[in-house]
Amino acid sequence: MSHFSYRNGVLCAENLPLTEIAQRFGTPTYVYSKAALLENYGAYANACKKHGRDDKTALICYSVKSNSNLAVLNLLAKQGSGFDIVSGGELLRVLAAGGDPRKVIFSGVGKSREEMRLALSHDILCFNVESLPELHRLNEVAAELGKQAPISLRVNPNVDAKTHPYISTGLKENKFGVAFEEALDIYRTAAGLPHIRVTGIDCHIGSQLLDDAPLLEALDKLIELIDTLSNEGIAIHHLDIGGGIGIVYDQELPVAVGDYLGRLFTRIDAWRAARHDKAPITILFEPGRSIVGNAGILLTEVQYLKHGDAKNFAIVDAAMNDLMRPAMYEAWHGVQAVRQRDGSASTYDVVGPVCESGDWLARERALNIAQGDLLAILSAGAYGMTMSSNYNTRGRAAEVIVDGAAMHLVRPRELPEQLFAQEKLLA
Ligand code: LLP
Repeated sequence: MSHFSYRNGVLCAENLPLTEIAQRFGTPTYVYSKAALLENYGAYANACKKHGRDDKTALICYSVKSNSNLAVLNLLAKQGSGFDIVSGGELLRVLAAGGDPRKVIFSGVGKSREEMRLALSHDILCFNVESLPELHRLNEVAAELGKQAPISLRVNPNVDAKTHPYISTGLKENKFGVAFEEALDIYRTAAGLPHIRVTGIDCHIGSQLLDDAPLLEALDKLIELIDTLSNEGIAIHHLDIGGGIGIVYDQELPVAVGDYLGRLFTRIDAWRAARHDKAPITILFEPGRSIVGNAGILLTEVQYLKHGDAKNFAIVDAAMNDLMRPAMYEAWHGVQAVRQRDGSASTYDVVGPVCESGDWLARERALNIAQGDLLAILSAGAYGMTMSSNYNTRGRAAEVIVDGAAMHLVRPRELPEQLFAQEKLLA
């Protein structure tokens, strides 16, 4: 269910009118629903339970890059979530939020020595290694620390995720992972390195996937490779299928998380039964968008209405620096007036104050609005705040979590002075 709905003509987050949030904390402000967040996480956790998995045989590693606010991470950590990180900074966030480093997996093509050291010193669950040189570097860094680094290879199964090219990652031409054909050789190398311990296999084929068929195809390829490795005496203890399940922005019909996990576990169970394999294999997931995407909106105020011959513009106080997705991917986000008005709508492009023609949040939307009205940019919980910038010396938006009728400020709006406080004049 949506946790953002109209009551008496006013859009609410759970039981709280968005007007009250704007009054108290101003705009632009990201507003997240705690209930939505927990419900979306629960869809994964419940499906795991339903298919006989416990916290030893399935682990949900929430993808921190989608929304990394400490309060969000803390709520998920309290549910038992693990975390998928892509930088040392994200590891420090997880630790600061009370996350368990032994449930952390580290993805990304460019891990630095320093990041490896940090992750090794916190005994994370696994490094998702994306290239042969990275494997050698990790072996060296682990040797310096007198440790063995647990690894998965991120294998590129070369399946078409059928999503936006910028967020499709499982094809041969992408920079991610190692080619399926090269994986066996790299695993052999890894098995021979003294400071590397092979523990798993990993893939992530893309984001905003509506259909689970490409994910199940990728699963079949990983299973094939696990069998080959097992014949060579290289044991794989966990299989990480990545994230990628999409959400509704407009008219999309994404697969339900429970249905996808059901099909995935059924295949895995059939494979294990056919091999008479009693040793359990742990299944890891790296969901981001499907947990936070629809749990958040961006609240903004109309500054000016500009009516022209060719177009009408609603100039709002949020901009591309707050929500990059439209400018970057031509992404579509729903827009709703917080207070419903009587009368007829006009067609507007919703644009921000940044000095770029690409600074738009939505195009050609029928809105019945006046100057000073509040708008909600929908489905903005994932890759919203985390991709924001300070372009035009604009402080980042505030972040608020709503729980029932209560609002919690989980990050105040940045003040302009903070943005240049570290800068120095020439002596
Ligand atoms: N695991 C890895 C290794 C990833 O690279 C990603 C996302 C995820 C998991 C989480 O995927 P999700 O479940 O959220 O689809 N900024 C883009 C999306 C970029 C996705 C990057 N990788 C957007 O706004 O659509």
